[in-house]
Amino acid sequence: MNRVVYGLLLTLVLSAVRGQNFWPVLSSNSLIALRSQRDVLSNISIDKVPVVGVQLNDVAFRGTSNETESLGVLASLLNVGVQAYMMDIEFDKSYNLTISGSNTSFGTTLSTIKRFISSTNNYLNADILVLLLRLKQSQNASTEGTPASYPNITAILDLYLGSSAIYTPSQLMYDRSSGNVAPSYGNLNSPDWPSLNYFLYSIQKRVTVFYVDTASSDALQSPVIFNSSSLNYKTSNTSITCPLTNNAQVLDMSNLGWRFLQKDFSSDDIGEYTRCGYSPIIDKNYSPDSIKTISNVLENSLLWSWAPNEPDTSDNARSNSTSLVARRCAVVNYTKSNSSSYWTVANCYDRKRALCKRDGNDFEWAVTQDSASYFSHHDQDGNGFCPENFSLSLPQTALQEKSLDNYLSQLSPDTWEIWIDLNSVSVPDCWVPDGPYASCPYQKEVSARNFVSMITPVSVFAFVTIVMLIMLSWRRVPIQDNRKRWKRVINSRLGSKAEGVPA
Ligand SMILES: *[C@@H]1O[C@H](CO)[C@@H](O)[C@H](O)[C@H]1NC(C)=O
Ligand SMILES: *[C@@H]1O[C@H](CO)[C@@H](O)[C@H](O)[C@H]1NC(C)=O
Ligand SMILES: *[C@@H]1O[C@H](CO)[C@@H](O)[C@H](O)[C@H]1NC(C)=O
Ligand SMILES: *[C@@H]1O[C@H](CO)[C@@H](O)[C@H](O)[C@H]1NC(C)=O
Ligand SMILES: *[C@@H]1O[C@H](CO)[C@@H](O)[C@H](O)[C@H]1NC(C)=O
Ligand SMILES: *[C@@H]1O[C@H](CO)[C@@H](O)[C@H](O)[C@H]1NC(C)=O
Ligand SMILES: *[C@@H]1O[C@H](CO)[C@@H](O)[C@H](O)[C@H]1NC(C)=O
Ligand SMILES: *[C@@H]1O[C@H](CO)[C@@H](O)[C@H](O)[C@H]1NC(C)=O
Ligand SMILES: *[C@@H]1O[C@H](CO)[C@@H](O)[C@H](O)[C@H]1NC(C)=O
Ligand SMILES: *[C@@H]1O[C@H](CO)[C@@H](O)[C@H](O)[C@H]1NC(C)=O
Ligand SMILES: *[C@@H]1O[C@H](CO)[C@@H](O)[C@H](O)[C@H]1NC(C)=O
Ligand SMILES: *[C@@H]1O[C@H](CO)[C@@H](O)[C@H](O)[C@H]1NC(C)=O
Repeated sequence: MNRVVYGLLLTLVLSAVRGQNFWPVLSSNSLIALRSQRDVLSNISIDKVPVVGVQLNDVAFRGTSNETESLGVLASLLNVGVQAYMMDIEFDKSYNLTISGSNTSFGTTLSTIKRFISSTNNYLNADILVLLLRLKQSQNASTEGTPASYPNITAILDLYLGSSAIYTPSQLMYDRSSGNVAPSYGNLNSPDWPSLNYFLYSIQKRVTVFYVDTASSDALQSPVIFNSSSLNYKTSNTSITCPLTNNAQVLDMSNLGWRFLQKDFSSDDIGEYTRCGYSPIIDKNYSPDSIKTISNVLENSLLWSWAPNEPDTSDNARSNSTSLVARRCAVVNYTKSNSSSYWTVANCYDRKRALCKRDGNDFEWAVTQDSASYFSHHDQDGNGFCPENFSLSLPQTALQEKSLDNYLSQLSPDTWEIWIDLNSVSVPDCWVPDGPYASCPYQKEVSARNFVSMITPVSVFAFVTIVMLIMLSWRRVPIQDNRKRWKRVINSRLGSKAEGVPA
């Protein structure tokens, strides 16, 4: 069998695992794009990781009293990559916790989330989930009840979600004291959180749970739920600055962690709010019939990086200078007229300028004076042709992408394609930073024995995932084996040093 067949199989398996017919076009490209976006975030602190969320009561429960339908909507949202869930919960007459405005118990809802966590507990699919809780005290409960009769929410989370998946305040204290936190450049006031990579793979956590207000944390105390003091939770009636037009505003925003904005977003404005650094919480009433329309809003927020239908590696253009084609490298494609950029795939052998970032600063960019192939840029010690104290880099968050837009808007060209430090040279569809010799993290894990322990046992998904991983590592193309030879070819044609192209 050849690689086309494997590619097809992979696509089928992926869409069978995650696809839903009425949800945003979940092409294999957008799955790969979402995964690569997650991988690019891997050393970003979890409080700065952009996620997309919903107000669950409004989106899934308000429009129907059929529990099966509501939980089906929740399962679909999880599948398409919605990662934050704001829930209003309340006591019923027997002091059981329910989703406000419905008869569905909180525990049943958590079970749906737990099923999703188990089915995605592997390197390819694991990602962080954020649960945001608010306790609405119904009049009867608050007048008749005493805190002693309140349910033990810690026990409910243990039972229905599983304590092993939950990241707790005490674990955070431990991680801060032992230095397992991501460096946060230049904002010493903002407390540190661990990186996404550490969170998902080193301690194998999947969920953080917050109360969004102090009344809830006072009423239902729990050692596994973070209080609202870590959150920056904004609603539509708080005034915010967006769009961010200069770097001072970007830096102010970057100092805040866990930034959420709950609002009735439209498909036109949600992208801009995302680039302002907010994790949107979509707050709109849907019924099971109208829920399909949420996909327009999700499409414009789930991906802040790649253009629609990217990464598209299909080979339909020939490189001019060398006639070698390897559509395995990424550019940021900037359009001046609307000051916006997105990532697309380009031929690694094309000669372009490259993007540099100041070392130790997440928001200061430069573009090289020299144009060269992707490989030639990375021959220069990882600094490429960058100015002193700058290195080849890429925007790792939506906020960094925004600061890059602001920087590029000051420079002259109308449209620009600039190399970013992201390629799939090593393994197709596995997009990694750190130059063309960086290896694919999943590939490494296939050989590492501990990988199997990460996969939920007795699960069909485990088998499916192993098959997918084997395919991923089989689907190598000549570029890897022939890279040395290709480099020789290109070097002999171009001379080992690329020519400078003045600005
Ligand atoms: C709830 O929805 C499911 C799936 O749409 C349907 O099969 C079931 O009959 C509904 N139940 C009620 C009580 O309407
Ligand atoms: C409340 O919870 C208890 C124990 O979990 C259960 O036995 C009872 O049926 C629940 N009551 C309602 C109304 O769901
Ligand atoms: C909850 O259940 C009760 C009785 O089973 C019913 O009368 C009520 O309408 C239900 N509430 C909702 C929001 O479905
Ligand atoms: C509060 O209790 C009264 C009487 O017990 C009942 O009629 C009423 O429906 C309850 N209200 C709510 C919101 O549960
Ligand atoms: C609540 O549940 C947790 C875990 O199940 C348990 O450790 C704790 O003691 C309980 N708290 C109370 C007040 O019962
Ligand atoms: C929130 O939690 C932190 C540590 O977990 C604690 O220091 C702080 O006092 C709490 N804030 C409130 C308002 O409870
Ligand atoms: C904002 O709206 C919330 C409810 O959505 C309300 O509780 C709060 O008081 C409002 N705040 C202001 C400043 O209007
Ligand atoms: C490709 O080469 C042709 C002729 O050498 C030239 O006219 C054209 O501008 C080149 N295109 C690019 C994209 O470099
Ligand atoms: C970059 O954007 C321009 C304008 O939208 C488009 O013509 C060009 O093909 C894009 N480049 C790539 C590599 O996709
Ligand atoms: C900006 O303009 C380009 C080229 O016309 C277009 O492809 C892109 O979608 C636009 N971006 C936004 C955010 O409107
Ligand atoms: C580069 O960094 C070094 C060490 O921090 C500093 O001494 C030097 O002045 C910097 N060079 C430039 C051009 O900023
Ligand atoms: C995070 O990863 C990017 C891409 O590999 C790298 O450029 C950057 O230096 C890393 N940052 C830290 C703090 O390790």
